[in-house]
Amino acid sequence: MRWPSLSASPYCSTKKGRAYLGDALELIKEIEDGSVDLICTSPPFALLRQKQYGNVSSREYVQWFMNFAREFRRVLKPQGSLVIEIGGSWNKGQPTRSLYHFELVLQLCKMEEEGGAGFHLAQELYWYNPAKLPTPAEWVTVRRIRVKDAVTNVWWLSPSSNPKANNRRVLKPYSESQQELMRNGYKAKLRPSEHQISTKFDVDNGGAIPPNIIKDDVFPNDIGAPVNVIAASNTSSNDVYLRRCREEGINPHPARFPNALPEFIINLCTEEDDIVLDPFAGSNTTGFIAEKLNRRWLAFELNEEYLKGSKFRFPELDSRQVMEGYSEAQANAATQGKLFPEEIKQGNLFADVTTQTSE
Ligand SMILES: C[S@@+](CC[C@H](N)C(=O)[O-])C[C@H]1O[C@@H](n2cnc3c(N)ncnc32)[C@H](O)[C@@H]1O
Repeated sequence: MRWPSLSASPYCSTKKGRAYLGDALELIKEIEDGSVDLICTSPPFALLRQKQYGNVSSREYVQWFMNFAREFRRVLKPQGSLVIEIGGSWNKGQPTRSLYHFELVLQLCKMEEEGGAGFHLAQELYWYNPAKLPTPAEWVTVRRIRVKDAVTNVWWLSPSSNPKANNRRVLKPYSESQQELMRNGYKAKLRPSEHQISTKFDVDNGGAIPPNIIKDDVFPNDIGAPVNVIAASNTSSNDVYLRRCREEGINPHPARFPNALPEFIINLCTEEDDIVLDPFAGSNTTGFIAEKLNRRWLAFELNEEYLKGSKFRFPELDSRQVMEGYSEAQANAATQGKLFPEEIKQGNLFADVTTQTSE
């Protein structure tokens, strides 16, 4: 497969990828039809409280996004995937939710003749982030009539009804009880739900098939917070990206992906050497994970400060890391097809707090 050739020079490049500074809507026009395997991205959400990188209002959101969507559809291979992480928002002055992200997915899946982009919804996934702030404060912490909004929707779409995917690449470690079952055997029986659990239930298939909630690890001390998905997790704050941003006086991106999200999606939807594009790349978490997983990547970002910081994710682009050789082991620890490497479980590697909160 040929590397997509753009006339602009990349802002930076690595063995597997290229990052471009500019408007994704312009840059993408130069990508050939049907040449990208996966677009994995988090666009600016339609938030009531604006982020420093700007957000489109929920009223104009669908129209704004559809310009990108048609290009996304054009550059994707027929069996490629478009995965969009998008948080909900609140209606101004009311304890009610905006429907903009549902309107978006409906429009994306309408036929082109109806003004849509002709995508199929392969599945909806959810990113659960217990580190989200309890906002809007008026409803959650002052009047206490709503709970913390801790999930964002992840729409998995494709030009085809059968996108390339393999859930064997995202298996989770078996739970204690399943491991015990596999050790001690299982008697086939009917569950109260009337599902027949077969004798194959105790066969070790190399890991458990994951659910459609993407989360990192489970930490008991978060269970007290009332959230709208029952699960728990944690974040740490000392990864190489943040440390180097601090050292160089660069503001870290305020709404980074958790590593686990692109890791899950890239493993699920692509194979080695496939091409992954993040058109709203921010700090380029997607490119960082794609590189680790041996996929080729393209990143577009409007804001130079974010791309400057993103270079710290790649030791080869950061002379200080090369000189001091201190980050190689940590940078390499991000996965080899495993969703939760040991370093993440111990909470000592990644700092990812997705802070594009739905305020
Ligand atoms: C939610 S952030 C993405 C964060 C990213 N997932 C990460 O892990 O750092 C959205 C990004 O889209 C960028 N952006 C907004 N409009 C854009 C456009 N037209 N072209 C390229 N980038 C754009 C913003 O500057 C912002 O950094």
